[in-house]
Amino acid sequence: PSGASATLQRTLALVKPDAVLSGHAANIKVDIEAAGFRIISERELRLSPEFVKRFYAEHAGRHFFEGLVDFMSSGQTLALVLERHDAVAAWRAMMGPTDSAAARGTFPDSMRAKYGTDGRRNAVHGSESVDRAREEIRMVFEEFTEESINGQITNVLV
Ligand code: PPS
Repeated sequence: PSGASATLQRTLALVKPDAVLSGHAANIKVDIEAAGFRIISERELRLSPEFVKRFYAEHAGRHFFEGLVDFMSSGQTLALVLERHDAVAAWRAMMGPTDSAAARGTFPDSMRAKYGTDGRRNAVHGSESVDRAREEIRMVFEEFTEESINGQITNVLV
């Protein structure tokens, strides 16, 4: 250890129904851990349409909203709480662009390029900010307290 400290952050990752159904969840977890994330909690669940509408409420009214709700409630989802230095931005970067087909041209090593299909079936979700991560983790993992998510979690030696 150098004696320097780094603040850990937590984020919510979802392995969406397309990737769970295609059997990619295990490989996605291997990639996540290889990138230095620790998987703090995980839960496989089938999201109800009502839950999906609340989770994606900011997108209500967008042309893709109904398709998004149908898709996200169509099968099993694997929810993961990830912890790492700069976890929110790091996981967003690792996911790649929204459209998996486009991602294959521009970011071939990204999760969406490797495991998704198109603009809807794009394999993974990640919280877009630290505040949003706190909200999303608590929506899926009710046992987490506010303080355990992106407060000052802990300092580690790096
Ligand atoms: S934006 O404008 O940047 O907020 O939009 P974007 O991040 O690209 O998309 C927001 C979420 O909507 C999903 N999405 C779609 N779902 C189904 N069909 C279509 N066509 C579609 N386009 C975008 C996209 O995957 C984002 O969901 P999450 O789970 O947050 O990645």
